[in-house]
Amino acid sequence: MIEYDMAVIPGDGIGPEVTREAMRVVDAATEIYGFRLRRTLYPFGSQHFLDTGELFPNAAFEEVKQKHAIFLGAIGDPRLPVGQVEYGIIAKMRFELDLYINLRPVRLYDERLCPLKGKGPEDVDMVFVRENTEDAYVGMYGFAHKGQPHEVSTQTMCYTRVGCERAVRYAFALARARNKKKSLMLIDKANAIRAHDLWTRVFAEVAREYPDVKTDHAYIDAACMWMVKNPEWFDVAVCPNLMGDIITDLGAMIQGGMGVAASGNIHPGRVSLFEPIHGSAPKHAGKNVACPVAAILAGAMMLGYLGQPQAEMAIESVVIDLIRSKRLKGVGTGDHPTNEVGDMVLHELRAVTAKV
Ligand code: IPM
Ligand code: MG
Repeated sequence: MIEYDMAVIPGDGIGPEVTREAMRVVDAATEIYGFRLRRTLYPFGSQHFLDTGELFPNAAFEEVKQKHAIFLGAIGDPRLPVGQVEYGIIAKMRFELDLYINLRPVRLYDERLCPLKGKGPEDVDMVFVRENTEDAYVGMYGFAHKGQPHEVSTQTMCYTRVGCERAVRYAFALARARNKKKSLMLIDKANAIRAHDLWTRVFAEVAREYPDVKTDHAYIDAACMWMVKNPEWFDVAVCPNLMGDIITDLGAMIQGGMGVAASGNIHPGRVSLFEPIHGSAPKHAGKNVACPVAAILAGAMMLGYLGQPQAEMAIESVVIDLIRSKRLKGVGTGDHPTNEVGDMVLHELRAVTAKV
């Protein structure tokens, strides 16, 4: 029987609650599809840091590197300085495991979840390929004359040809494999951020190898506008890290909100990290009100990545069915108790797979 090793970091706030439901679903999939997942649980997050002073110790990091996949619930806590756990845990994994793709599907499962008037599932079905290791995120920043009236602060947006090319290449291959409109849009801000000219050139170069993929381009400001006005124009989009961060929150909203948006931080062929896009939502923590659908879908993405695409598809179909049939009233906070959503997905997954 195939076996996979997995690290689970439930993290902060609602992270542990949504992770629990995602892992129940993943466990059911292992039984149904006949593979094994060995899970190692790691306590890292803000509370652990406050209790022990430890963010992500090297010994644990070395262990995590040996796994096939990592699942992360959520990270972030207002009691800690801005960015500390984000950099110490999420960014550390993205950078040190070189997870250069942040894959963020934006798929609307039912019209009633969409805040856009007159748009349905056929209109909102796109995938963002967000470069995940460069840009302003590399952490090259500084201050001079701190606290004085003439204080200066800078942060460098850093792009490498290698980093840009591997993201663009992944996106072209995805547009081809997805075989929907076979179109890829480059989103950047090359008209103001001249460093983005590297993206323009690399995109054009790689495009020559994919003559069957139609190319398109939009500046980030216009792309935000088109996403709201004509989301049906989007198929696959590729963008630098920071813009990808921002536009995928917009994407999450048009697919039904943070309760349903999942993502994969991927280095093809190596250990990769799967997480819901939402944060730790401390005010909802421990109340059994958080929606675990995004976490469940992140778990499904992880299974697909590990080589179990049938399990991934089955879980996604179950979620779609529960939403469309209105058994899941919604994917917002408090629409259902967190564990009840897990129960529904599990029950339905067992029922539909028993039929085949
Ligand atoms: C995301 C988050 C992170 C990011 C934060 C928590 C650093 O917003 O995964 O989109 O900016 O990448
Ligand atoms: Mg974000």
